[in-house]
Amino acid sequence: MASATKTAPAAKSDNKAPTVTLIDNATGKKIDLPVMDGSVGPKVIDIRKLYAETGYFTYDPGFTSTGSCQSAITYIDGDEGVLLHRGYAIEDLAEHSDFMEVCYLLLHGELPNPTQKSKFVHDITYHTMVHEQLQYLYRGFRRDAHPMAVMVGVVGALSAFYHDSTDINDPHQRMIASHRLIAKMPTIAAMAYKYSVGQPFVYPRNDLDYASNFLRMCFMVPCEEYKVSPVLAKAMDRIFILHADHEQNASTSTVRLAGSSGANPFACIAAGIASLWGPAHGGANEAVLNMLRAIGTKDRVPEYVKRAKNKDDSFRLMGFGHRVYKNYDPRAAVMRKTCHEVLEELGVKNEPLLDLAMELERIALEDDYFVSKKLYPNVDFYSGIILRAMNFPTSMFTVLFALARTVGWVAQWKEMIEDPSQKIGRPRQLYTGATKRAYVPTTKRK
Ligand code: CMC
Repeated sequence: MASATKTAPAAKSDNKAPTVTLIDNATGKKIDLPVMDGSVGPKVIDIRKLYAETGYFTYDPGFTSTGSCQSAITYIDGDEGVLLHRGYAIEDLAEHSDFMEVCYLLLHGELPNPTQKSKFVHDITYHTMVHEQLQYLYRGFRRDAHPMAVMVGVVGALSAFYHDSTDINDPHQRMIASHRLIAKMPTIAAMAYKYSVGQPFVYPRNDLDYASNFLRMCFMVPCEEYKVSPVLAKAMDRIFILHADHEQNASTSTVRLAGSSGANPFACIAAGIASLWGPAHGGANEAVLNMLRAIGTKDRVPEYVKRAKNKDDSFRLMGFGHRVYKNYDPRAAVMRKTCHEVLEELGVKNEPLLDLAMELERIALEDDYFVSKKLYPNVDFYSGIILRAMNFPTSMFTVLFALARTVGWVAQWKEMIEDPSQKIGRPRQLYTGATKRAYVPTTKRK
């Protein structure tokens, strides 16, 4: 049995890298494991040679203590409530930047200069149309299909439409596939919405910015002019920025794992969308609104807070808590502010769901259960209220998350493919099933 590890001080004289020593109490065998330093954040123990040298695997369901890769894209300090993309604080990006710039930043590592930016915007804009044949795929779905089910299917099918950009070993094809995914996702998401409400698909317009174009494709009908509100377009753009990437969460890890086998990027992003759909992940924004509707009135908030604390009740406060943030999610703070701006623009004086959400937040943040477990509102807590005010049905909320997160998935997928140490992801297990036994013919079984 291996005992606790201890950190060995960094050797000063011989310039050796720091290590931790693992001692197997059963055999007395010691093994030094190298300690790796990132640019900021906790150090990691490099266990790559652990199995070969000791015969032990590590056990970490849910990967609470495991780093699966090296990445230079996004940094989170969950205790301090910090989120940085390529070193830039999310609050700064949400306030001063726009989604196209953030996409460029995530993909290329630096903010674009004016020439780079206009070329990038052009490249994305001129990939927004989808193959005309794709609309027949939509028509195969039931009209009442959940739009996330449609998204998983349609995005997975892109590899059948754009097979000239599925060679992952060709850097040019990788870039084209990345641009296609970022550019076509609003068109695909808007088509999923239009199909569900029985309205004709709306083609993209290249003279509009990314967010305005998306809003128009969702809400324009051929019989009327549609003028995009600049305040709503700005809010939409900000929501996209806030969801653009979040390091190695479930869906991003799914994209990386799917891609580690050499699968094409369209298939990998479809896998990410499937993972995002769950209520513990991106599906939480839809679940928050359903929860607020179920609570109904402020006087019922204490009843639901009590239920969330009850171990025998599976109910959790949706939009609360996070694997990494043990402080206020910085995205939730920006989202809350945006929520007020959007409601003001729309002339909504009294939004009962917002009042309910703020009351729920107030009561939960004064409650010892939530305080001691460091459960704070996360990005999904306020986003649903904004999206509902913009007229999106709840079933579209996670679709919007997927649209915005596509750039993060693509950037992480590219980083993985371009990492020379990359190999197929293949976790091991602690086997607890039957040991080897003889086959018994059917007639001899009791
Ligand atoms: N309501 C009530 N109790 C909670 C909640 C909650 N929302 N979240 C965590 N807890 C409790 C949990 O019961 C556990 O208690 P105990 O230690 O007594 O067993 C403790 O807090 C730790 O929770 P955990 O489930 O071990 O933590 P986790 O890191 O595995 O889960 C989470 C993180 C986000 C899945 C979880 O907080 C949750 O289910 N939240 C609600 C769903 C949600 O809002 N998800 C959106 C996440 S942010 C968007 C995204 O990145 O996708």
